[in-house]
Amino acid sequence: MAFEHTSVLLEETVNGLAIKPDGIYVDATLGGGGHSYQVCSRLGSTGRLIGIDQDAAAIEAAGSRLECFGERVTIIRSNYCDMKQKLHTIGVEKVDGIILDLGVSSYQLDTADRGFSYRADAPLDMRMDQRQQTTAKDIVNCYSEAELYRVIRDYGEDKFAKNIAKHIVMERERKPIETTGQLNEIIRRAIPMKFQKTGGHPSKRTFQAVRIELNRELEVLRESLDDMIGMLNPGGRICIITFHSLEDRIVKSVFRKNENPCTCPSHFPVCVCGNMSKGKVITRKPILPGEAELEYNSRSKSAKLRIFERE
Ligand SMILES: C[S@@+](CC[C@H](N)C(=O)[O-])C[C@H]1O[C@@H](n2cnc3c(N)ncnc32)[C@H](O)[C@@H]1O
Repeated sequence: MAFEHTSVLLEETVNGLAIKPDGIYVDATLGGGGHSYQVCSRLGSTGRLIGIDQDAAAIEAAGSRLECFGERVTIIRSNYCDMKQKLHTIGVEKVDGIILDLGVSSYQLDTADRGFSYRADAPLDMRMDQRQQTTAKDIVNCYSEAELYRVIRDYGEDKFAKNIAKHIVMERERKPIETTGQLNEIIRRAIPMKFQKTGGHPSKRTFQAVRIELNRELEVLRESLDDMIGMLNPGGRICIITFHSLEDRIVKSVFRKNENPCTCPSHFPVCVCGNMSKGKVITRKPILPGEAELEYNSRSKSAKLRIFERE
C-alpha cells in the first residue's frame, strides 16, 4: 500500500518556523515527510534537516520522498523523547526549529492490519513503533476494570467509559478480545442506542484512548517539550500541531510556563525566584485550518497549531 498522508496546516507550519536557509531543523514526527519536504525546499546548500519517526513504514516512505535533498537530510528511527540524546550522537546540540505534528498518519490509520482503525476488522495492535512488545490487545485483555475506566475516561473523554470498561471485562471472561471488530461490538453494546446516532462512531473515543495509553502519547509529549525548547538557538522556533484537547492543553501550558516561569507570589514587587523566561509564545490563539483545507482534508478538522520562539 502506498504511503498516503495529506500534511495538515502545511504552509502555516513551515512559515511559522521562519526558516533560515543555513539553519538546522528537526521534524520530530516525520511521517511521510510532507512538512519536511517543504522545509528542505527552503534550505540552502548548508542547511540541514533531521527527521525522526518511530514507525518503520514512515521512515521508509520519508526516506524516498526526501532522497532528492541528499546529504542535507538525516533520518533517525526513534521516539522523539530521545531526541536530545540522538542528536548528540550525530554532533548536534542546538537547532533552529522543530516541528511536531502529533498523533497518527493517515497511512497508519488506513493500513487495516496496524489495528488503529475501528473501520476495519483486524488484530488489535495500534503500535506506532512495531518493535514494541505490548499491543492494544494487552491493554484490553490485561488491564483491570478500574484501569480501563481511567484510560477511556481520561484519554477518550467518553461519558460511557464506566460501562464500556465493565462490558470489556465481562466479554473477555468468556473469550479473549483479539480484534478491532470484537472491540467495536462490545463498545456498541455498552452505549445506549439513542447516543449511537449522535457524536460520531461509538468506538471513536475508546480507540483513541487505547492508542494514547499504548503509545504513551501524552507522557512523552509532556516529558519532551522543555528539552526541545532548551535545544533551540536564539530566535529558533517550535511549531506543534495537536489533534485533541488533551494534547493542546499540555502544549499551551508548557509554552506559557516557558514564557513566564516566575513562581514569585503576585504581590512581590520584584522577582526573587530567578526563573528566567525562555522566550515568547507567538500564537496567542492557536492557528486553525481554513475553510479550503477543511474541505479537501476532513482529518484536519481538530488540528491546532501553536508556535513558541526562543529568546
Ligand atoms: C501526523 S503524522 C506526521 C505526518 C507528517 N508531518 C507529514 O506531513 O507527512 C505523525 C507521525 O508521527 C509519528 N510519531 C508520533 N509520536 C511519535 C513519537 N513519540 N516519536 C516518534 N514518532 C512519533 C507517527 O509514527 C507518525 O508517523
